[in-house]
Amino acid sequence: MLRRALLAASASGTLRRIITTAPVTRDVVGRFVAGDTVTDALAAAQQLLDAGLLVSLDYLGEDTEDLQHASDVTDEYVSLLRSLSGAGLSDGGAAEVSVKPTAVGLDLPDHGEKTARENIARICAAARDAGTTVTLDMEEHTRVEPTLRILRQLQPEFPDLGCVIQSYLRRSAEDCSALAVAGSRVRLCKGAYSAPAQVAFGSRADVDRCYARCLRLLLAGPGYPMIATHDPRLIKIAGLRAIAAGRSPDSFEYQMLYGIRPAEQLRLARAGSRVRVYLPYGSDWYGYLVRRLAERPANLTFFLRSLASRG
Ligand code: FDA
Repeated sequence: MLRRALLAASASGTLRRIITTAPVTRDVVGRFVAGDTVTDALAAAQQLLDAGLLVSLDYLGEDTEDLQHASDVTDEYVSLLRSLSGAGLSDGGAAEVSVKPTAVGLDLPDHGEKTARENIARICAAARDAGTTVTLDMEEHTRVEPTLRILRQLQPEFPDLGCVIQSYLRRSAEDCSALAVAGSRVRLCKGAYSAPAQVAFGSRADVDRCYARCLRLLLAGPGYPMIATHDPRLIKIAGLRAIAAGRSPDSFEYQMLYGIRPAEQLRLARAGSRVRVYLPYGSDWYGYLVRRLAERPANLTFFLRSLASRG
């Protein structure tokens, strides 16, 4: 309820102004975001790789409204991939990138989907040159169809292009069945957006049940599942199902967000699992931060208390 209200309120210009200008915000952002620049991102990525973790870098930004900006975001990814390669961080896919289709043009009024597809293809080509992969983030439910269409259209040329499936959507088990094929890379998460009851489950229990069902489908198939959750119960279920499916530890990976349950990230990696950290950087962190606050009432309470005490 609180989560839905916060996500809805986040579109308000006033709330955005309050959150982005409050001095305390910087401290909170620093917990979830590597920094503003590529240099910050590379430094954080290097630290995580040194600790035995893998990384997926996300250049923050979404809902791009003009063609030039979509092209600039694409250039940033291409340059990031060259830097990762130059520093030896992308070797064997150790550091890859995650891309939001709306950041590279999906919502543009004219030919948005075509623009996004072309820009994503440019990023995929740079990733291939760098010896690594790209995963398409999944945004609001209205973007699922165009995002999966882009995935299908680009996969013949870039077979290792991955995507995200969100278990809060009623359609997701069906999507997982279709995507549990050889060569596919599917990141399974619960979903950080809100959606109407016709398309999304309303209760946490139903979202978790659907997650477990999707897990079973992906782990039983021949693809490469990427289990993106911090939920201890689902992580345990995933481990047991992977064993039951006869999977080796290098045939799937766990994924978590930068700054969330870092000790668990290390514990899993030290126990022999592949663990990838989703590492955002850039100055356009507002939407990302609001989703992290909305996910966990304790984060929001901490943030509001800090605002009040320093205001
Ligand atoms: P849940 O929310 O139940 O949390 C389980 C436990 O994790 C909590 O009890 C707490 O300990 C910890 N935790 C979770 N969130 C926290 C937070 N914000 N702060 C502190 N602790 C927290 N979503 C989406 O819609 N599209 C996408 O493309 C992606 N991509 C993505 C990539 C990766 C690698 C991850 C890990 C997640 C995403 N997500 C996403 C976000 C995802 O949908 C979801 O909102 C969050 O992962 C939180 O859900 P959990 O599965 O962790 O469970």
